[in-house]
Amino acid sequence: MGHALPNILVTTGPTREFLDPTRFISNPSSGKMGFLIAREAKRKGCRVLLISGPTNLNYNPIKTVKVISALEMYDAVRRNFQNFDILIMAAAVSDYRPVVFHRNKIKKDNKMKTVKLVPNSDILDWAGNHKGSNILVGFAAETDQVVEKGRKKLLKKNLDFIVANHVGTEDAGFGSDRIEYSILDKAGEFTPLVIESKSKAARKIIQVVLKRFSEL
Ligand code: CTP
Repeated sequence: MGHALPNILVTTGPTREFLDPTRFISNPSSGKMGFLIAREAKRKGCRVLLISGPTNLNYNPIKTVKVISALEMYDAVRRNFQNFDILIMAAAVSDYRPVVFHRNKIKKDNKMKTVKLVPNSDILDWAGNHKGSNILVGFAAETDQVVEKGRKKLLKKNLDFIVANHVGTEDAGFGSDRIEYSILDKAGEFTPLVIESKSKAARKIIQVVLKRFSEL
């Protein structure tokens, strides 16, 4: 069909869900994987926007929208989704946020022992429900049964691909330069489970989505 290159929207990093100005709920995501995917897409000549939670990355030269909470990431994705052909959700979005944000620091003598949480919207689920010809790529961070659980998420969220990755090991995962992963599509396992550098994984992920886009 002679398509131009796709526009690619990538999310990365953790989100922070603040309880008060001094405390938050988050996770150890470094944002590296999504950043490397965005960089590789740009290197291939695609127009790229990165939506990132708080990280220590130097985003240069990637155009980046910085967000903090899952709600902000959700808004940023919804604002931009229609202008992009491909969404790659590499962010580790917090599934819950505290019901109440305390404007003033919660003091110890409050004797607050529990925090009430409410679920955050699932951004990928929203994208799956508003999908036209967009290609949707999710990540599934799993500690066990990586491929099986990845396949379930791919189907549940109506995705084109899922990068099922093994977390909680020393050799790969959060913060590491390596990732243990398998790319799945609806037909099955696209690439087998391997441990590789995140930059090599980024090249493979971009190669797979560019190929799929060229076949549309
Ligand atoms: N995700 C999202 N919005 C959320 C939570 C997750 O878009 N509120 C996306 C992530 O960016 C990732 C995918 O959904 O691409 C899978 O995230 P994960 O946390 O592994 O899965 P969950 O659906 O939250 O399931 P569970 O936590 O039960 O494993």
